[in-house]
Amino acid sequence: MIEFFHKGPINGPVTTKAGPPNGPAISQEGPADGPAIETLLDIAFGPERHARPSYALRDGLAATTELCFVSRLEDVLVGTIRFWPLAIPGTGSALLLGPTAVHPDHGGLGIGSGLILHSLGAARTQGHDAVVAIGDGQYLSRFGFHPAHKFALEFPTPIERGRFLVLELVPGVVDHNGGLVAKAAKAGAEF
Ligand SMILES: CC(C)(COP(=O)(O)OP(=O)(O)OC[C@H]1O[C@@H](n2cnc3c(N)ncnc32)[C@H](O)[C@@H]1OP(=O)(O)O)[C@@H](O)C(=O)NCCC(=O)NCCS
Repeated sequence: MIEFFHKGPINGPVTTKAGPPNGPAISQEGPADGPAIETLLDIAFGPERHARPSYALRDGLAATTELCFVSRLEDVLVGTIRFWPLAIPGTGSALLLGPTAVHPDHGGLGIGSGLILHSLGAARTQGHDAVVAIGDGQYLSRFGFHPAHKFALEFPTPIERGRFLVLELVPGVVDHNGGLVAKAAKAGAEF
């Protein structure tokens, strides 16, 4: 089980300890973390990752920086999670989760779960109402994600049906008549 010990306000600089005292510390991503995150994403997804369908929805947009977190073990960055704005039919403030990755040397320790739970909690607190993720349904279902086809949602480009997932942070917010998720235009910081 993962325990969280909040060390600061959810909207300010946040450091959260997941698990035992020497466990990973979660903090908001800072500008200096960029190179280590790019290296970690290359390790986790391979250098072809920019061709993945989700990248097209982020292209040219700024990340939602207040929901981008990193996880460190003894000051070494071992995990990352980022969010981008997204347009989902029926929702006022929706997000695209990802990429999220944990260094394979530290897999299975709850670092990924810690980052996902922490960031989804912050997203809920900050008033976002739904999250789309492109990823492993078996893994993400434990955080409440459902196949998006259950909501009749469509993805703008061809995608493996079971990897297109949605989480309602506000129950019932996604329009069950479905529709196309689309790239959002929102101001923010470039990563
Ligand atoms: C997926 C990832 C972020 C998980 O991070 P992690 O810190 O190892 O995960 P946790 O320790 O929190 O959770 C481990 C659990 O998730 C399960 N799990 C991990 N990856 C999984 C996957 N792709 N599919 C199904 N289950 C998965 C493990 O079997 C384990 O299950 P258990 O709790 O029943 O033992 C990490 O493996 C990773 O970076 N993978 C490559 C990048 C990637 O695919 N990212 C997208 C994720 S949707």
